[in-house]
Amino acid sequence: AQVNITHNNSRVNAILPSGESIEVLLHGATVTSWKDRAGNERLWLSEAAKLDGSKAVRGGIPLVFPVFGTAPDHEPTSKLPQHGFARNSRWDFLGKSTTESSGQTDASVKLDFGLSTATIDDEVKKLWPFSFSLIYSVTLTPDALRTGIVITNDGDQPFEFQTLLHTYFRIDDITKVSVSGLDEAAYIDKVDGAKEKQQAGDVTIAGEVDRVYHPADPSKPINVSESGETKLSIVRDNLGDVVVWNPWVEKAQGMGDFEPKDGYKNMICVEAGAVKAWTKLEAGDAYEGGQIISV
Ligand code: BG6
Repeated sequence: AQVNITHNNSRVNAILPSGESIEVLLHGATVTSWKDRAGNERLWLSEAAKLDGSKAVRGGIPLVFPVFGTAPDHEPTSKLPQHGFARNSRWDFLGKSTTESSGQTDASVKLDFGLSTATIDDEVKKLWPFSFSLIYSVTLTPDALRTGIVITNDGDQPFEFQTLLHTYFRIDDITKVSVSGLDEAAYIDKVDGAKEKQQAGDVTIAGEVDRVYHPADPSKPINVSESGETKLSIVRDNLGDVVVWNPWVEKAQGMGDFEPKDGYKNMICVEAGAVKAWTKLEAGDAYEGGQIISV
C-alpha cells in the first residue's frame, strides 16, 4: 500500500495506507480537512466557508501572515487586511515527499506549498512592498499533523512580521472542553479591552473568548480535552504565543460565512503563533516555526 496523493488546480488530497487523510486548498494553503482512519473529521470547517478563493476560509487551518488582526499603528503592515494576505493568496503546490520504508503502519507524507513576491498579486505588493518567500509544509503521519512555515527575507532591507497557524478544531460540545498547558500564562483579553491577565488553571469556555497567551515555557504542550479525555496535544516550535478563540453566539451570528450558526458549540480555535510582538527578519535571513498536533 502506498500514500495516495491526488491534486487538481484547486486542492491537494493525501491518504495514508493506514487510512488517515488531509486536504489542502491552494487558496491560502489552507488545510481544510484532517480525518482519522475511520473518516472522522478533526478540523472544523464552516458549511458556508468560501472555498473558491473569494474569501479566506472559515475553518480548517488558515495561515496568518504577515500581520495578526490589523495593525493600524505598525506602518509597514497598516494597509493590509485582517490577518494579512497569505490566507487570501493562491499558493503553488511545490511537491510531496513520502516515507513508506517501514511499511503500512507508519507511512507518512509531506506536502510543500510556496508563496513569494513573484507569485502574489500586484495589488498585494503595493500594500506590502517587501521581497519574501514562504514555504509551508504539511506533514501527515498516522498519529499527528505537522504544519510548519519557513519565511525568508529575499530583499535588501529588514521586515517585521507576525504569523499564526489559525487552527479550528472540531469538538463535540464546547461546554465540556478544557485547554491545559496555559496555567499561569499571561494573556491579553481581546474581549475585555485588551487587558493583561493571568490564566489560573485550565481554560474553559462559557462565552465569547478571544485571548492571546504568552506562556512562559514554550516547550510545554497545549492539550485540548473533552469530558476529561485528552483529544489532542499541540507542541510548538519557535511560536511563542497561543491564541484561544471561540466566537460564541453573537459573533457567530455576525459572520456571514459561519454556518451553522450554532457551530460555535462544535469548534475551538487554538492557534500557535508569533503575534504578540513583531519578529524582525534581516535581509537574507530565514525564520522557521511550526506546530505538531498529536492525537
Ligand atoms: C482570531 C482573532 O485569531 O481570529 C479574533 O483573535 C478574530 O479576534 C478571529 O475574530 C477570526 O478572524 P477572521 O478575520 O477570520 O474573522
